Amino acid sequence: MESPSRRNVLMAGGALGALGALTAAAPAQASSLWTWSPKGSVAGAGEGADPKWVWDEVADPLVASLIDRGDVPKVNDLLKTWTKNGQALPAGLPADLRDFIEEARKLPSWADHGKLATAFEFNQKRGLYLGVTYGFASGMMSTAIPKEARAVYYSKGGADMKDRITKTAKLGYDIGTEKAFEPDGEMIVTCVKTRLAHAGVRHLLPQSPAWTKVADEQVPISQADMMVTWHSLPTTVMQNLVKWKVPIPAAESTAFLHSWQVTAHMLGILDEYIPNSWDEANAQAKQVLTPILAPTPEGIKLADILLNLGSVIDGGILTKGVLGALTRFLLGDEIAGWLKIQREPVWDTLITTLWPPFIAVREGILDLTKAPKELREIYWAFDEILRQAALFFLSEAQYPISIQIPTTNRPA
Ligand code: HEM
Repeated sequence: MESPSRRNVLMAGGALGALGALTAAAPAQASSLWTWSPKGSVAGAGEGADPKWVWDEVADPLVASLIDRGDVPKVNDLLKTWTKNGQALPAGLPADLRDFIEEARKLPSWADHGKLATAFEFNQKRGLYLGVTYGFASGMMSTAIPKEARAVYYSKGGADMKDRITKTAKLGYDIGTEKAFEPDGEMIVTCVKTRLAHAGVRHLLPQSPAWTKVADEQVPISQADMMVTWHSLPTTVMQNLVKWKVPIPAAESTAFLHSWQVTAHMLGILDEYIPNSWDEANAQAKQVLTPILAPTPEGIKLADILLNLGSVIDGGILTKGVLGALTRFLLGDEIAGWLKIQREPVWDTLITTLWPPFIAVREGILDLTKAPKELREIYWAFDEILRQAALFFLSEAQYPISIQIPTTNRPA
C-alpha cells in the first residue's frame, strides 16, 4: 500500500478532529458553575458573565433574518466561490451579510504570524499523533458531550454523518496547512462560514420538536458550549501528547495553542473566554468539560454510526473493532462504556501493549533495527493501522467543500 503523504495525514487529522466539533449536543447532567476568571483569557479582562447565557449577538440576528427572508440558498451558492482568506467577496451578497463578513474575517490584533508559522511546523511534525487524537480522542469524545451530540443529531447534518464529517473535516484540515490564516489560506473563510452555520443552527433547532423535548436550554451552541467543544480539541490533544511523553519544544506547544486561540476568535468566541495559556486551558477544561461528559441516546447512536463508517469507507483493516479499541484506549473504559463500545480482547490488549514502544520508536528512544523480525513486523503493522485510522475520511475531504448555512433541521 502506498504510504500516505504528510499532507494526507494532516488532512485526515482534520477530518477526524472535525468529528469532535461535529458531534456537539445538550448535557444530560447539569452543567457546572462558571467561576473561571477572564484574567486568564487572551483579553486579560472581561465582565465574567456566565458564557452559558451568551451566544453570538452579531451573527445570530443576521442569519435568522437571512433564513426568514429566504436568502440562504442564494447566499450559500454565492459563498461557494469564496474560498481564500484574501479573496474579495462575490458580488450579489445581501449588504448586511457583506458588512458582517468583512468585519468577521479580520484577524484579532493579538494574532501572531510568527506563532502561526511555528504551529504549522508542529502540525507537520506531529501529523500522525494529531490525526489519531483529533479523531479518537476529540471526535469520539464529542459523542459524550451531551449538548453537542443532541445538537448534531437533531440538526440537518445529523441525518448524514458522512457528509457532516466531510464538512467538519475541512476545518481540521485547514488549521494544519501552511498558510492557514494568511491571504492564500482558507482557514479564515472556513471559520466565518462555520460561524454563520452555527448561527443558523441557533435559529433552527429551537423550531425542532424533537430537539426541544430533550434540550435543557432554549438556544443551542452558547459560548460555554463552544468552549467545551474547543477543549475536546486542542486541550485534549495536548493532554494526550504530554501523557505519552512526546517531546514538544515550548515554542511549538505555545504556537499550537495560539492557532486554536485564533480559531476560537474567528468562530465568534469572545476573547474573554479564550484561555491565554495551557495552564488556564487545563483549568477551564476541568471546570467546563470533564464534569459534563455523559452518555445520551443520541450520542450513543452517533458513536455507533461513526465507528461503522470506518469499515464502510475503507472496507479493509479499519473494522469497527479496531476503531472501538482505539477509542477505548484514548478515552478510557468509562466513556467507552457509556458509548456502548464493545470490549475487543485482542485489539484492546494489542493497542495498550504496542502504544508505548510505538511512541518510543517514533521518538528515536527505542531502536528496533536489531529486534527480531517478527517484532518489527508487528510494529510496522501497528504503524500502518494508525496511519489508516488517521486517514479515515481522507478521500471524502479531497473535493471542494463549502460549509453552508442550514435551512432545515433533521427531517422527522
Ligand atoms: C457545524 C466546527 C462547536 C453544533 C459545524 C461546522 C464546523 C463546526 C466546521 C460545519 C460543518 C457542517 O456544516 O456540517 C465547530 C467547532 C466548534 C464547534 C470547531 C468549537 C470549537 C459546536 C457546538 C455545537 C455545534 C458547541 C453544539 C452544541 C454544530 C451543528 C452544526 C455545526 C449542529 C451544523 C450541522 C448541520 O446542520 O449540518 N461546526 N463546531 N458546534 N456545528 Fe459546530
